[in-house]
Amino acid sequence: MRIAVIGAGYVGLVTGACLSQLGWDVLCVDNDEDKINGLTNGVLPIHEPGLEDIIFRSANCQKLEFTSDLEWAVETCEVIFIAVGTPSLDDGSADLNCIIQVAKDIGHFMTGCRMVINKSTVPVGTGHTIGHIIQRELDRRQVNYSFDIISNPEFLREGNAVEDFLHPDRVVVGTESEAAAGIMIKIYRALLEKGTPFVITNLVSAEMIKYACNAFLAAKITFINEIANLCEPLGVNVRHVALAMGLDRRIGPDFLQPGPGYGGACFPKDTRALVSISEQVGAPLTLVQATIIANQNQRFKMVEKIAGQLGGLYGKTIGLLGLTFKPNTDDIRESPALTIIEELVNRGAFVKAYDPIGIENTARWIKADKHREENVKLCSDEYEVADQCNALVILTDWKQFKNLDLSRIKALLAEPFFFDLRNMYLRQTVEEHGLRYYGVGL
Ligand code: UGA
Repeated sequence: MRIAVIGAGYVGLVTGACLSQLGWDVLCVDNDEDKINGLTNGVLPIHEPGLEDIIFRSANCQKLEFTSDLEWAVETCEVIFIAVGTPSLDDGSADLNCIIQVAKDIGHFMTGCRMVINKSTVPVGTGHTIGHIIQRELDRRQVNYSFDIISNPEFLREGNAVEDFLHPDRVVVGTESEAAAGIMIKIYRALLEKGTPFVITNLVSAEMIKYACNAFLAAKITFINEIANLCEPLGVNVRHVALAMGLDRRIGPDFLQPGPGYGGACFPKDTRALVSISEQVGAPLTLVQATIIANQNQRFKMVEKIAGQLGGLYGKTIGLLGLTFKPNTDDIRESPALTIIEELVNRGAFVKAYDPIGIENTARWIKADKHREENVKLCSDEYEVADQCNALVILTDWKQFKNLDLSRIKALLAEPFFFDLRNMYLRQTVEEHGLRYYGVGL
């Protein structure tokens, strides 16, 4: 059985590489020829811990190949995973153009029975739509091949994607066909044997599970962010609150880390899409709507916190550490850092910034706007950022920011303001170096 994975983005590339690691012959397909050429020559389009090793090993023993030839992939692979983007449209709904095109192509090129497994995050009902599109194409060609549609949402986190794929909390399979469920179990047998729970359900339920998980996690982060904001004026330490909350097994300790708000390619897009779906069917999700608004407000609150302590932002130089939406990735999509930079610059501040691997992506984003280009300087390390700044602000919890030389930072800063928006430091440690410490909810 040969497997094609259509779409070599985060989800597709990790899925393809990890399926080859599980022993399958995999063909990764993408219409971006530069990306495919790079991958064929061992150049990865994304930074993801552990991924390069797997790709190198699997490609060397021909278990993993890359192509931009979708026709060849659909002709030669019985199992086809779809992992293409479903970005937000202006009204918040998911843009399904890519997935619809892939469904048409599958119907157009398939030469026998196929299993079509969707991994992209899609509105409930999209699996059925994919099925109709493929069938319409087969009817048009006047051929009669059978196919199954399966929803197999992915729960991997950027920066931890390989680990999440190979050691998932659960595998969700949504299908109307028992035989297809059986083949999915075969594909993931190695995970099943390790004791991974499988949830086998129908197509629409699997599609909803993915959105419900992301919306719940987004709401959980937002909840602790708002509690943290409330802790500050009341003199409460949110660390202790989150710790005690997390020890309640019904709540759990994860995703209770306050900060400048969630970002990335998933939570913002998926919460908007879920709200859009709920509005279409007249069952509003007020909690998710409030989460979206509160998360956006959180970014501005962080700027306000800095402005409040500095007595305004006009003419000030603010140093930012961390630009990616989380550590261990070069991804800056919907990162809180971008909103915060824009707001700082709009309010008359000059920004200096550094990120361990997000600099190149940020440089492109800065270049796209003249005002930004004039008012943001990217630096090569933490100390170049701190030099002559009125405040230093940690925005992303990169591990290396935990070990700053605080005496050096104090000596470099023009004013001793230290904003730790990921609560990486203890107040006492920072204040011992003559800096003024501000966390989130501390
Ligand atoms: C998220 C989900 O965690 C994955 O399960 C899902 O598969 C993925 O979206 C997706 O739909 O593809 P990801 O966006 O990679 O994964 O990153 P997370 O680790 O979930 O972090 C998202 C954002 O929340 C980051 O900006 C992070 O800094 C923030 N966050 C996370 C907090 O502010 N506090 C926390 O306690 C946890």
